[in-house]
Amino acid sequence: MITLTINGKKVKTKEKTTLLEICRKMSIPIPTLCYHPDLTPHGSCRLCTVEVFENGKSRMVTACNFPARQGIKVETHSDKVIQARRILVELFLARCPRVPLVQDLARELGIGKTPYKAENPENNCILCGLCVRACNEMVGAHAIEFSKRGTHKKIGTPFEIDSDRCIACGACEYICPTGAVQMEMDRIRKIKNSDTGTHRYCRYMRLGLVDFMVCSNGFECWRCEVDQMMEDRFGTHPAFALKPAKNKQSLQVNGFTFSPELFYSEKHVWARPMDRDVRLGLDDIISTFATEADSIKLPHAGMGLEKGQVLAEIICAGKKLKIHSPLSGPITAVNRDVEESPNLVWKDPYRRGWLLMIRPDQPEEISQLYSGEAAKTWFTKQAVNLKSFLMKWAPKSSQKEEVQDERFIQRIIRDQWDKVTEILLG
Ligand code: SF4
Ligand code: SF4
Ligand code: FES
Repeated sequence: MITLTINGKKVKTKEKTTLLEICRKMSIPIPTLCYHPDLTPHGSCRLCTVEVFENGKSRMVTACNFPARQGIKVETHSDKVIQARRILVELFLARCPRVPLVQDLARELGIGKTPYKAENPENNCILCGLCVRACNEMVGAHAIEFSKRGTHKKIGTPFEIDSDRCIACGACEYICPTGAVQMEMDRIRKIKNSDTGTHRYCRYMRLGLVDFMVCSNGFECWRCEVDQMMEDRFGTHPAFALKPAKNKQSLQVNGFTFSPELFYSEKHVWARPMDRDVRLGLDDIISTFATEADSIKLPHAGMGLEKGQVLAEIICAGKKLKIHSPLSGPITAVNRDVEESPNLVWKDPYRRGWLLMIRPDQPEEISQLYSGEAAKTWFTKQAVNLKSFLMKWAPKSSQKEEVQDERFIQRIIRDQWDKVTEILLG
């Protein structure tokens, strides 16, 4: 716990709590435009600016992302703060003169009209970035982003090309405080018509919340009773009520990264279903073999792969490690980046270090792999085994952190290749 002073009052709080969180608990009103408690603070609107006094100096900071520090003094409504907020609101008023939220803020600060010129009065986007963060952090779709710079900065799909990544879930439209995001009926219709019969996914399926269709309205959520019931019950969009992407964020397990949304085979291959194909890669534990690999051999796209056949061969200083496939089916794509830079498998095993895509002969076989809690338990056991082995070989003076050091792991794997193989693959 640390102690700081806010508006003359001493407060005790946990380290890393943001000034905004503390002020909200103390019922101190601080205006915000880009803050949402479920999303990473972005600090872009600067409206939550407060004055912080530390070591005899004062400075202006954004309360939504400034962590509390021992002994600092904070003023939330000093003359400097009010002056800064007024200028910001005048600028917002010039950018988006028709947005009621901005007009309300101006009224609260007694601002009648802005001295700045409105370049494009039709613009409703205050560039708060809530839509982008909701799409990335809650939905996990990464379909929209900021583009261009300065006064031309705006929100859109990457390269302004119609993005297949958008699942039309509507989280961005829901979170937008100004109504600037409007779901395009074209996109909704395209998604609705892209699948038929049992493949007609509703937005709950596409969000990864359930694996069955909730209603047959497709994406006409406004006509769906289930959707209405969800909104009534949780008072928010399903992406915020159930936080699908947040629940899938990676965890550190005994120094190794575990990705909860994947399936895992006992041979340390992860599998991620993607439409009709399944992407395969090596988990963070077995990928330690790739830290200094000379090469990684992968089969060719178009080849058929049988369950138990070699999926990848890691070659390092004359030693080889064969990894076997947990599924059968034709290979639809191979990650050539990994063949060029084998180290990628270790650096980024669950994303850029993927190995290949397969169209499984028997898709139901994926359910025989570890998933959910069972996957975590299995992964933890494997991570503990490998870590204790690495610790055994560490010089007596080594600290735990050094055992995670890349060079140390490289040396142990190289020297103890067969033993590590036995520990991990039996
Ligand atoms: S509709 Fe959903 S997936 Fe599409 S951009 Fe908005 S939040 Fe992202
Ligand atoms: S579109 Fe809406 S949510 Fe996205 S940045 Fe603009 S104002 Fe914020
Ligand atoms: S709410 Fe803090 S910068 Fe926008």
